[in-house]
Amino acid sequence: MRAMRNIVILISGRGSNMQAIVKAAQIERWPAKIAAIISNRRDVEGLLFAQEQGIPHAVVANGDYPTRAEFDAALQTEIDRFQPDLLVLAGFMRILTAPFVEHYAGRMLNIHPSLLPKFPGLATHRQALAAGEVVHGATVHFVTAQLDHGPIVTQAEVPVLPADTEESLTARVLEQEHVIYPRAVRWFIEGRLSIEGDQVHIAE
Ligand code: GRF
Repeated sequence: MRAMRNIVILISGRGSNMQAIVKAAQIERWPAKIAAIISNRRDVEGLLFAQEQGIPHAVVANGDYPTRAEFDAALQTEIDRFQPDLLVLAGFMRILTAPFVEHYAGRMLNIHPSLLPKFPGLATHRQALAAGEVVHGATVHFVTAQLDHGPIVTQAEVPVLPADTEESLTARVLEQEHVIYPRAVRWFIEGRLSIEGDQVHIAE
């Protein structure tokens, strides 16, 4: 049997995607351990959940470091204490420096609330509504140095309805995020994902 894989999850707030992953790992008995949950903000909801679940958790607050490089170095040191096979960004709202991204190349996933390459960056739901999109969604991708780019693992589409507000559309997309992110993490843990150029291959 394959050894247990270590997953470290980075959050900045609520952590509902993180919670979906933790629950799926428990219910589906993944050969993986959520080794740590690390937040760049103190006192966030996601950390309370980690505490309740008895999962090791830590804060590396970006405000405590004068530069992005120093923050990323401290974050990397904290993460690597837990020897991650996979680093999962789950609503982690910081742009990462190239050396950090390089260090976790091929073993760092992110979820973005749009159908990339459409609407990188912030306020994706507002952007989708303003553009008159009829289909919107979310994307799980490997992280590369360019923000919200990188090989796509999977996407989920949702309809944009005529009566949608930013809130209603956000909620519809988030529900799908909670489906596709645990699934993609599981594929990684099972060793089914390989990156070929800018494409991801998912083995049967
Ligand atoms: C999610 O919509 C994620 O895609 C985006 O920020 C939100 C975080 O939500 N980057 P949560 O912290 O996972 O609840």
